[in-house]
Amino acid sequence: MDKLIITGPCTLSGSVRISRAKNAYLPILAAVLLSNKPIHLKNIPELQDIKTMIKLLSNLGVQVSKNGNITTFDASTLNSHEATYDLVKTMRASIFVLGPLLARLGKAKVSLPGGCAIGTRPIDLHLTNLEKLGCEISLHAGYVEAHVKKMLPTSLTLAFPSVGATENLIMASVFTEGVTTIDNSALEPEIDDLAHFLNAMGAKITGIGTQKIVIEGVKSFKEVTYEAIGDRIEAATYLMAALATGSNITIEGVKSRHLQFVIDVLKKMGAKIETTEDTIQVFKSELTGCQIDTAPFPGFPTDAQAQMIALCTQVKGISVITENIFENRFMHVPELIRLGADITLKGKLAIIEGGAPLSAAPIMCTDLRASAALIIAALTTTGDTELQRVYHLDRGYEKLEEKFSQLGAKIKRVKE
Ligand code: EPZ
Repeated sequence: MDKLIITGPCTLSGSVRISRAKNAYLPILAAVLLSNKPIHLKNIPELQDIKTMIKLLSNLGVQVSKNGNITTFDASTLNSHEATYDLVKTMRASIFVLGPLLARLGKAKVSLPGGCAIGTRPIDLHLTNLEKLGCEISLHAGYVEAHVKKMLPTSLTLAFPSVGATENLIMASVFTEGVTTIDNSALEPEIDDLAHFLNAMGAKITGIGTQKIVIEGVKSFKEVTYEAIGDRIEAATYLMAALATGSNITIEGVKSRHLQFVIDVLKKMGAKIETTEDTIQVFKSELTGCQIDTAPFPGFPTDAQAQMIALCTQVKGISVITENIFENRFMHVPELIRLGADITLKGKLAIIEGGAPLSAAPIMCTDLRASAALIIAALTTTGDTELQRVYHLDRGYEKLEEKFSQLGAKIKRVKE
């Protein structure tokens, strides 16, 4: 298993270009299954989760070819409806193929994703609402077995604005004769991006960006070329790394409005940040503590919680961060404490007494965003911090060492 050695403390400078969003391209790749026309996707990030999803599509019979920065998918040769455990267990987002397979083939057999480090992450909202659309669903030997004769145009209301459930149900409904609505749908920008992609193929989705998505069924799709939005969580990571190390950097290639709540919180803490539509400029700032609750979009994203805790270890004073979305998303805290951070956990709350310098020690990645938090902390730490199990990081951060090195960080990968 690879390790990263990060030599701190360091300051960063220059600019970093953000990759296309993992959490936009994962559902968009699943939506490839809906069409029998060629689909050309631009600048798909080279991430483990993306590779897994593309392998899953290939296993279902989709032809994949790459030409420079454009990857072409052809699902006219779709020849299976089964997403097997060996792939699904490595990436929960595989469950996104359920909706498209049901819409396209009327049947699907998808392994239950199982738990993951940050929580049990059930899929009850996906399944109960697919049943309301007319699907027959049974669970058998660790698999979801589903089939449907004719999808029913239905008014759905989500008990919780689940990102994945919203995306699965939109994809399931694009060919349904009549109008399907999803009330209390999640508002994350990646959902808007999926809907824009589907409309580019010929779907009729309105209410995008509102809590009521309306899908009018169409008969078929057309050939399309599409590029997903920038990754707002990757951008938040570089933003917090810059503030933690007292640096001036420019972040390019992401809609600043997709990060508005995070930027507003940081500005309230004293951060000097200037934005245009597609760039975020951050300057060395003296910060004070904060009180944050993670929430569904447009609130503070749970995916930036770990990075925020790492930043708060460098902020004089008390900060309190409450994780409201996942039940076990503080695994980075014991690792940060190994570096000397003063953090107390009380149920959903993390209480950080910031300002004390951190010192290097071997630490371990436990999940994707926790890994990003450890990198931020290591950049501020005196000495060589050894970060183990970096495969977690490779799931969601493209060319991380390259990007941080270009910003001036001393970071190298040791292959084991
Ligand atoms: C998406 O996961 C993201 N993943 C997650 O990012 C992100 O943390 C999450 O949304 C919340 O923003 C992708 O987009 C691939 P949810 P998803 O359904 O769809 C509960 C990352 O780091 N729930 O909105 O699984 C669930 O347990 C990853 O990039 C149910 O109870 O999130 C959780 O507590 C991590 N039943 C809450 O809702 C369901 O059927 C939010 O889950 C579905 C969800």
